[in-house]
Amino acid sequence: MRKKVSVVGAGNVGATAAHWIASKELADVVLIDIVEGVPQGKGLDLLEAMPIEKRDSHVLGTNDYADTANSDIVVITAGIPRKPGMSRDDLLNTNYKIMQDVVGKVVANSPNCILIVVSNPLDAMAQAAFKISKFKRERVIGMAGVLDAARFRAFIAEELKVSVENVTAFVLGGHGDTMVPLARYSTVAGIPITELMDKATVDRLVQRTRDGGAEIVKYLKTGSAYYAPSSAATEMVEAILKDKKKILPCAAYLEGEYGINGLFVGVPCKLGARGLEQIIQIKLTPEEQAALQKSANAVQELVKVIGA
Ligand code: NAI
Ligand code: 2OP
Repeated sequence: MRKKVSVVGAGNVGATAAHWIASKELADVVLIDIVEGVPQGKGLDLLEAMPIEKRDSHVLGTNDYADTANSDIVVITAGIPRKPGMSRDDLLNTNYKIMQDVVGKVVANSPNCILIVVSNPLDAMAQAAFKISKFKRERVIGMAGVLDAARFRAFIAEELKVSVENVTAFVLGGHGDTMVPLARYSTVAGIPITELMDKATVDRLVQRTRDGGAEIVKYLKTGSAYYAPSSAATEMVEAILKDKKKILPCAAYLEGEYGINGLFVGVPCKLGARGLEQIIQIKLTPEEQAALQKSANAVQELVKVIGA
């Protein structure tokens, strides 16, 4: 039977995620938005591209949650993006209201789905979706680490003039200014980057990764990044639908792992058919653990504001 993925929010991230998912023939796609006409138009446009792409994915745009019924995965991208001068945290109250509107309707129509949350501020919105859905933690996962690690990987590959395929990177923590790119666990063909670059270069790339979202907002002015974010969400969708057991940095609800309890924070996760199948615990240095705790504290502050 064909798999079904619904994408809530037919804006930049949502429509581009629908594009990647359909063009990789991972599933049939339902694109849903509160605005009338936009998901229908984008959905139909994507459907009409499928003969050219030689893909049999069906794409439907809608405003009716009944069309999302029995989705295997629902990717939530509904929400406002930031503009220049705004932080992801400035989106908190508006996007929390949107999450309250969306999650109940998603769950009523797809009680067995896996939720991938993309809306910002990411970790707090994942926590909100977790609490509203009442799903087990295995079925609510936030997308941020795949994007942040991809940015770090792109910068490392460009700096060292090597294939992006040779580069792995790890980023822990919340999706904000306090995120923790881990140079020690970031490698080129298995060689830690700390062996290949001096400290100043590593520090520069780490900082550029932390500022990666803002760098793009500054250029776009009217919104935020969407090609890499939607590609990142699609990698998570693929890992789950194909039961790949792929280890990716994702926001997961921690229950004591890394000394953090009752909070979504980015950690290495194994994704497979059951969603979050394992949280991989790696040994951190005292500095890394302190940086992760600081990042978790920043997430906790936001979660406190919305009471999630
Ligand atoms: P966008 O403005 O292009 O699209 C958002 C869409 O959500 C709009 O089409 C809007 O009509 C829709 N929407 C608003 N309220 C809704 C509701 N109640 N029900 C259904 N749809 C609703 O924004 P974009 O660029 O697609 O970003 C979406 C969200 O994803 C933002 O919060 C942004 O900050 C976040 N984001 C998160 C990333 C991450 O790494 N986690 C990366 C990139 C974006
Ligand atoms: C980003 O990192 C806006 O969170 C989004 O590009």
